[in-house]
Amino acid sequence: MAGVGEPLRDRSSLGMVRSSWSKVRVLPVLWFLLQGIPLLAIRLKPCELAGQLYILDVPKSELPLWLCIAEFESRFNTHVVGQANTDGSRDYGLYQISDRYWCAPPNRTEYYAFNDCNVNCTRLLSDDITMAVQCARLIQKQQGWTAWSVYPEFCNGTLEAIDECFQPSNATDCLTSEEVKDC
Ligand SMILES: *[C@@H]1O[C@H](CO)[C@@H](O)[C@H](O)[C@H]1NC(C)=O
Ligand SMILES: *[C@@H]1O[C@H](CO)[C@@H](O)[C@H](O)[C@H]1NC(C)=O
Ligand SMILES: *[C@@H]1O[C@H](CO)[C@@H](O)[C@H](O)[C@H]1NC(C)=O
Ligand SMILES: *[C@@H]1O[C@H](CO)[C@@H](O)[C@H](O)[C@H]1NC(C)=O
Repeated sequence: MAGVGEPLRDRSSLGMVRSSWSKVRVLPVLWFLLQGIPLLAIRLKPCELAGQLYILDVPKSELPLWLCIAEFESRFNTHVVGQANTDGSRDYGLYQISDRYWCAPPNRTEYYAFNDCNVNCTRLLSDDITMAVQCARLIQKQQGWTAWSVYPEFCNGTLEAIDECFQPSNATDCLTSEEVKDC
């Protein structure tokens, strides 16, 4: 989570230290968070997310990775705001996008530096995942999958196949089945 979306260009003058990226504390923190606020949890089913990503033009070959990252960053929960990172910045939504570089936080902050996705962070918490996905894809294009600290540990290997999400007999798993070609 920490450091998600830190752009490639050199911003070391801002005092951002790459080695501060945290991997280990991500899971316990998220688990605790989700247990604590169950009423706010809008949680997508994996196949729902696969269908929505597909509609948003994410290539089918990338779907297992996007599902894996959403699972480990937010447990498929669109409304999660992460606990503050060491610099006070926070990560928003399904793909835990950092408000330091990618979206504008709701309040004035010390750390806020860029809004590269040109979006208010709160829009990244919407049930409509369009903005969150567009922003996540921009980050992925600029930084690759390692922009997400969960990637090397949990998502760089054999991933769950998504084929069954797109099979007719399982169409009931797809919220948006009519719109997905193969669903
Ligand atoms: C922004 O400020 C409001 C009111 O001061 C506060 O309720 C809210 O929790 C703050 N949001 C964040 C993300 O800090
Ligand atoms: C963010 O929200 C503010 C106030 O609600 C609005 O003025 C601004 O246009 C929004 N920015 C974007 C990029 O949507
Ligand atoms: C991903 O896995 C490959 C093969 O095991 C390895 O060579 C590579 O370094 C890994 N990448 C990351 C970012 O962990
Ligand atoms: C439907 O999904 C289940 C698991 O969710 C899978 O085991 C099964 O093979 C799928 N059915 C078809 C026809 O693909």
